[in-house]
Amino acid sequence: MTGLLDDKVAIITGGTSGIGLASVESFVAEGAKVAIADIQDELGASIAERLGDAVIYVHTDVTDETALETLVSTTVEKFGKLDVMYNNAGAQGDPSAIVDATSAGFDKTIALLTRSVLLGHKFAARQFQAQGTGGSIITTSSAAALQGGWSAAGYTIAKHAITGVVRQAVAELAPLGIRSNAIAPGIIMTPIMARSFGVPLEQSDEFVAFLAEKLDSTQPIGRVGQPEDIAKVAVFLASDLAGYVTGVTIPVDGGATAVTQGSFGADVVSAAAEFTNK
Ligand SMILES: NC(=O)c1ccc[n+]([C@@H]2O[C@H](COP(=O)([O-])OP(=O)(O)OC[C@H]3O[C@@H](n4cnc5c(N)ncnc54)[C@H](O)[C@@H]3O)[C@@H](O)[C@H]2O)c1
Repeated sequence: MTGLLDDKVAIITGGTSGIGLASVESFVAEGAKVAIADIQDELGASIAERLGDAVIYVHTDVTDETALETLVSTTVEKFGKLDVMYNNAGAQGDPSAIVDATSAGFDKTIALLTRSVLLGHKFAARQFQAQGTGGSIITTSSAAALQGGWSAAGYTIAKHAITGVVRQAVAELAPLGIRSNAIAPGIIMTPIMARSFGVPLEQSDEFVAFLAEKLDSTQPIGRVGQPEDIAKVAVFLASDLAGYVTGVTIPVDGGATAVTQGSFGADVVSAAAEFTNK
């Protein structure tokens, strides 16, 4: 522990699992008080009990605007203020391809992955303004915000739209000292994998271990990501070390979006060799 987040109060949505849970643990280890917002109530209560006075659990469905407003007021009632809002909750959403897309499926995905982020910004920024302080807003975006093909259409579009929220937040909120940044994880071994592929949650650990073995060598850095890889960057963005950082989406993907994952480069070289040897 280095006390990077001493005296800070944070909300972390989706904080009972995966990236959110790793972030809760890292924030607390760095000295923050944390409100976990999620819909997994039993898990939330047991995590709050395990982590003690620094943590509360607040049942919050992030697709419900009133619930998000209450989340901020409950956190401030408990801990006296808010410094960091981490919009992290998410799921795959509607798995349809473009040709099968429906209005209902798309709207649901946007409500979960994008509207929740906009409203998280809204209620956090209002609280920061009322306090007369700045603040840090962090959002878990995705490699699917940077390239097509990582996930289904709705998820890809919803995550791309987060970039718009973050950039607009700079225009409107940076003058108030409010920073907004996103993290774009690549392949991270969390229960979202089991949830997305219909594997029972009890088998999540076994499933991600199996996936990791298959996928490690496909990643430029030689391994898939772990929730802690994202939590460390979230701690940085929440901390005063990032005081001059706003409006960015930081890929945390072992280099996956920096290079083509196809064999395009090698294909060009071999086609050129074939031509010159003709
Ligand atoms: N794991 C990856 O490979 C990966 C990659 C890119 C982006 N992400 C993003 O990271 C974020 C966290 O996902 P994760 O991988 O830790 O998955 P996870 O399934 O382990 O955690 C997601 C959490 O969000 C909560 N949640 C879902 N719907 C909610 C709702 N309506 N209201 C409140 N909470 C809700 C779940 O209960 C769960 O605790 C998501 O936004 C996801 O899109 C994950």
